[in-house]
Amino acid sequence: MKILTTVMTASVLLLAQSASASPAVDAMLKVYSDAGAGPFSAEAGQRMWAETHNNAQAPVERRCSSCHTNNLRSDGKHVKTQKPIKPMAPSINAERLSDTKKIEKWFMRNCKWTLGRECSAQEKGDFLLYIQKSGV
Ligand code: HEC
Repeated sequence: MKILTTVMTASVLLLAQSASASPAVDAMLKVYSDAGAGPFSAEAGQRMWAETHNNAQAPVERRCSSCHTNNLRSDGKHVKTQKPIKPMAPSINAERLSDTKKIEKWFMRNCKWTLGRECSAQEKGDFLLYIQKSGV
């Protein structure tokens, strides 16, 4: 009986793990919710991903997709340095959305570059859901 309970507990844990695609995403969504944001929407994230923002400096038209493209499962290319960027979809590139520090660092840089300001907790949560779903 004890063995059966152990086996059952282990499979429940496994199930719980596969349902949650990334502990880092869960952790960040909790931070954003605690800051008063939510509920989050992958659709809103997708819309913002393709949205154009105008900047005084070149390149004038800026989008998240300028560097990452609109297909998160394909390679991107940095619009200024031309350096290749690996796909954003976690299902293709397992390193994606696995490190909360990396996520926050790049949100900071990329939001400032693209939007001319930091992203709100709501926007970051929406982006995370969109990127996470893109690979499924
Ligand atoms: C000017 C080019 C550029 C633009 C525009 C850009 N990014 Fe990025 N992004 C990068 C680079 C370079 C990296 C880091 C290199 C890498 O991880 O491959 C990165 C990494 C990221 C990461 C880290 C993902 C991870 O876990 O590895 C996230 C999240 C991200 N970008 C989101 C965005 C969002 C949201 C926008 C629009 C607001 C955006 N990016 C616009 C160049 C860009």
